[in-house]
Parts: sequence; C-alpha cells; structure tokens
Amino acid sequence: MLVNAKEIIKSAYKNKQVIFHININNLEWTKQTLLAANIEKKPIILGVSPSAAKYFGGYSVCYSIVKSLIKELRIKIPVCLHLDHGSYDDCIKAIKAKFNSIMFDGSRLPFEKNLEISKKLIEICKKKNISIECEIGRIGGNEDGIVSDVSYTKLNEAKAFKEIGIDMLAVGIGNIHGEYPKDWKGLNFSLLSQLNDELKMPLVLHGGSGISDDDLKKCINLGISKININTELQIANAKAIEKFVKNNNIMDNKNYNPRNLYKLSNEAIYHKVREILTKF
Ligand code: G3H
Ligand code: ZN
Repeated sequence: MLVNAKEIIKSAYKNKQVIFHININNLEWTKQTLLAANIEKKPIILGVSPSAAKYFGGYSVCYSIVKSLIKELRIKIPVCLHLDHGSYDDCIKAIKAKFNSIMFDGSRLPFEKNLEISKKLIEICKKKNISIECEIGRIGGNEDGIVSDVSYTKLNEAKAFKEIGIDMLAVGIGNIHGEYPKDWKGLNFSLLSQLNDELKMPLVLHGGSGISDDDLKKCINLGISKININTELQIANAKAIEKFVKNNNIMDNKNYNPRNLYKLSNEAIYHKVREILTKF
C-alpha cells in the first residue's frame, strides 16, 4: 500500500522508533527492498534522488515500477515513495508523477529563500496530502555529485521551519553523506538533544551509512524518526557484483545473462535491507 510518510513517521516519533529510508537505484534494488521490508513486516520509505529518477527513466517510470511491484509481489506493508534532496523543480516533477512524499533541499540557499520555497511547497503538499521534509544546516559529503561541508542546524531557523508546517526536518549534526572519513568528529548529540527538546517533531538523519548502532540508537532516543541509508547498500551491491565476476567466467553457464550476473547483488541487497530493518 502506498502511503505518505506523515502517519508512519508520527507514530515512530511518538514511540521512539525509526522508519528506514532506503535509496533505490533501479528495478532490482526496488524489488529486493520491497521483498525484504515485507518479510520483516516493517513500513519502508523508498528514497529516490533526482539523478536516480533520471537513471530510472523519469519520475513516472519510478512511480509505475514501485506501484506495479507492490501489486505483483503482494506487498502488504506501508510503502512511501519519497523524493530525496530535490530542488523546487524536482519537487514539482515528483508531485506530478504521484510521489507521495518529497524532500525539498534548500540547504545551499540563503535561509530566507529556503523558507520561502518550502512554504510554497507545503501549500501544494497539503492540498495533495503529500508529506514534506526540509533541511536546515547542511549534511556534509557528496550527494548526487554535489559536495558540501558540514554546517550545523541552527535552533532558531529550525523553529521557523516547524512553524510553517513541515512534517519532518533533516538536521545537520555532523552527519555526512557517503563514507565517514577517519578523522570524522562524530555526531553532535548535545545539539540533537536541544533540537529535540525544543522542536518536539520528527527529525531525520541523513548519511546513515557507517554510523555505529549505538550512535543510531542514541539518535532514535533523541527524536530521529527517519534514517536515510544509501551508501551501505551501494557498497554491498558493488561487492557482490565484484565477487561474482571474480569467481565466475562470464562466458560459462550463461553467466552473461543478467539474471545470473545480478544474482548475488540481488541477494546482497535483500539481506542488507533485512539486516538494517531488524537493527532496532
Ligand atoms: O539522502 C540519502 C542519504 O542521506 C544517504 O546517505 O549514502 O551516507 O547512507 P548515505
Ligand atoms: Zn541525504
């Protein structure tokens, strides 16, 4: 069942639980993620970045794939199809393609501009019953080819975003997209605790790959209700393909058939998603 993120996130927040957002990159990824979530009976948010949507062939292709897989595979859990790190134009495209959740990433814009565009999108989302996530402060690292430095979320700015009616807020607390560098300073838990006390609303942790389970647990206790994971699965997928190619002659036993070639990678994604969903 396709749902927006509002209800599942609200109840996760209330119960100090978390909903995982798994970025999807192609048909196989989507299928394995849905199967894994379904067997674990956990709601799931499928995150699609603008460049992933392009790779799929467009937002509507992505929507059709998700919708059809839910039907054909008899997926019973709540599934939210969510635009990840979109510009205003990306958000409009995703809404037109029937995504039921969007993230507007205005974190590189001046605060006032970020707020103004977010307000505009909130109006649209309210009318269409779509959930909306916005970002204050900046998540470091490389996302969709855009490299950013960490910038911490400011409480007064976060409060202004709560007032305009967003459903969830992505915070910058030292989290980074991609692999964490050896000299990473770690998460700023005192900032997270302060944001949680003052805002009392679902918060989102981006850059979930590579953070220890203990730290993730602390985050969940401090109001993080959605954790985004992408890199961890990309690595599992790449390693599985590497293993298959290293251990098998591509010309033997029709290994060149994509259904054989991707077998280990499909299994890797399926098991990794199950492992992530059963962490807490
Ligand atoms: O929006 C997507 C994420 O924040 C994923 O971050 O690739 O570091 O897991 P990650
Ligand atoms: Zn992110």
